[in-house]
Amino acid sequence: MIEPREAEQAVALVAERAREYLAELEERPVRSPTAEESAARFAGPLPEEGDGTLSALTTLLEYGPDAAIASGGPRFFHFVVGGATPAALGADMLASTLDQMAGGWVASPLAAELEVVSLEWLQELFGLPASWGGVLTTGATMANFVGLAAARSWWGEQHGRDVNEEGLAGLPPAPVFSSGYIHASAIKALAMLGVGREAVRTFSRDTVGRLDEDALEAALRALDGAPAILVGNAGEVNAGDFDPLARMADLADEHGAWLHVDGAFGLFARVTPRTAHLAEGVERAHSAISDGHKWLNVPYDCGFAFVRDASLLAKTFTPTAAYLPPPDDARPNFGFLGPEMSRRGRALAVWATLRAYGRSGYRELVEHHLDLAQRLAARVDEAPDLERLADVPLNIVCFRYRPDGVSEADLDELNSRLGDDLLTDGRVYVGTTLYGGTIAFRPAIVNWRTREGDIDLLVDVVRELGARLAVRTK
Ligand SMILES: Cc1ncc(COP(=O)(O)O)c(C=O)c1O
Repeated sequence: MIEPREAEQAVALVAERAREYLAELEERPVRSPTAEESAARFAGPLPEEGDGTLSALTTLLEYGPDAAIASGGPRFFHFVVGGATPAALGADMLASTLDQMAGGWVASPLAAELEVVSLEWLQELFGLPASWGGVLTTGATMANFVGLAAARSWWGEQHGRDVNEEGLAGLPPAPVFSSGYIHASAIKALAMLGVGREAVRTFSRDTVGRLDEDALEAALRALDGAPAILVGNAGEVNAGDFDPLARMADLADEHGAWLHVDGAFGLFARVTPRTAHLAEGVERAHSAISDGHKWLNVPYDCGFAFVRDASLLAKTFTPTAAYLPPPDDARPNFGFLGPEMSRRGRALAVWATLRAYGRSGYRELVEHHLDLAQRLAARVDEAPDLERLADVPLNIVCFRYRPDGVSEADLDELNSRLGDDLLTDGRVYVGTTLYGGTIAFRPAIVNWRTREGDIDLLVDVVRELGARLAVRTK
């Protein structure tokens, strides 16, 4: 039998090792050269007799950090990955300790109240109307799912159908219009919602994906008043660019469409007057989403969905069962407003980090990252063997390695191989993408620990490994 005191011993053991890990996190390579061997240590048959609490945890602590990627550290620039602020980390450890079921008030007044307050604070931070409703999700994918579920309910209603009760069968395909910036997760959400990936039509005026406003307007006009769903993108992943959201809001008004805005990280542009104009118009959308584990820097997993007409969330997501509170329970039951019923107490970390650092702390953080992105752009511009491929409106710098003597035809291959080498090298972590048909790097600066030296190291390592590869290529 498991002894209760083992829980205390487990927490003490992990807390001590966690402290050591954090103390050296800024010095660690992002990826250890022995990560794969360490990861392989965990395989084996299901033990008949377990090792016991402390022994299992000791194995995990011995090989786990080496097999892990130091994505909470300052030099992880791949994807769009934030770290965990000290307050968020502490609160998240508390969330595991208290182990709250955050589906409803009865199960956890703490989690429910913190979620109410956190969502109010986030709406204030992002300048979204206080009258909107919202819910915390596992991330931006599920936040897109929630926002687009509300859009789907609304769209069904325009056709005189309650799609949550009756389904979509017999209805025409739902028109979903966006720019080429639409994120894969919004398309995935539409697949999960039964709207279908093929419902999406993108209107781009170039190979990068910028919105063709005239084509969008013509497509809306061609619908002749039939309802459509627009997906606006606040921050696309290759260069951090934005769709013209105010224009999309105008078009939604004129044509009676729903506007959903994916602001997984770009909604944070609204936190500082330096970039707020980029996301102007989000407040006129019908749904908008963002991520917690990106720029808010709370641990995985956390996202937020906000919807103008919150009653649409209840229509899709409220379950009915005799053992549950009634659907019209006046107390906050967030399991009735999003896809999961049993849920982690994510609001502990959100509340704690907002309480700890406040509006000005987040403005400072975002501005710090804006400055670092400009520093990176300047370092790229001054390096003779690097080429910047896009403007830097926010926190992502899109560039490629371009030494003398390599033909245009060979540059994609060179940059692709350099991308692999960078991940194996592990001092910094940065991924590649296809930008306007060209293989490019797209470091995203989102972690509260990142400093100027980390940016400089990124440039130095790209050039060092690039030069080595270019010599081998020639
Ligand atoms: C614009 C955008 N939308 C949605 C997502 C999906 O977010 P998540 O991975 O949190 O589900 C991302 C992730 O990078 C993103 O950048």
